[in-house]
Amino acid sequence: MDNKSTNIVWHKTNITKQDREKLLGQKGVLLWFTGLSGSGKSTIATALEQKLWELGKLTYLLDGDNVRHGLNGDLGFSEEDRKENIRRIKEVAKLFVDAGVITIASFIAPFREDRDSIRRELGDRFVEVFVNCPIEVCASRDPKGLYEKVKNGEIRNFTGVDSPYEVPLDCEVEIKSDEVSVEEAVDSLLRIISNL
Ligand code: PPS
Repeated sequence: MDNKSTNIVWHKTNITKQDREKLLGQKGVLLWFTGLSGSGKSTIATALEQKLWELGKLTYLLDGDNVRHGLNGDLGFSEEDRKENIRRIKEVAKLFVDAGVITIASFIAPFREDRDSIRRELGDRFVEVFVNCPIEVCASRDPKGLYEKVKNGEIRNFTGVDSPYEVPLDCEVEIKSDEVSVEEAVDSLLRIISNL
């Protein structure tokens, strides 16, 4: 993105990320759930956040549908809008990580390049979690009735149908949500977080 802001100078604050992390007794990290609609991203992300909360961790869950109600309500589902959606969320998530929060993002984020750009910026504070589920299973779950609408021609540019989803090639975690339970997925993620 071309930065149109000119004559700006970075303002250094007194309190650092390290100070905040010390106060909280945790490390800021971004767990990014990517996968098709209906793959289980939000379900697993919500269960993980609940568990972390019970363990006394400060968390924040950024969810695609929710963020599109406000901050990104001006964006649709064209390739350009999806890329802008993820760019803005990346910037928001970076602030949360800087605040020392265990940040969970649940977005389709269909383009590999966009996900990789988050990894480049956050390094080992970024964990890409691929919620892998065959589209036939997602469509049979159809929790929001969206696949039915796609079938009836009421939705176009739907991910995995007539809009691309680029499967992660080098993600940190893969969850086959048609093979493992939500509890098993959460347990494996908790193990990963505790080793960060
Ligand atoms: S993206 O691709 O990352 O910008 O999408 P995201 O912000 O995660 O929003 C996905 C949710 O929007 C709903 N929805 C659609 N998804 C995909 N394609 C189309 N055309 C579409 N239209 C609406 C849907 O509820 C998605 O939520 P999930 O949780 O993935 O089902």
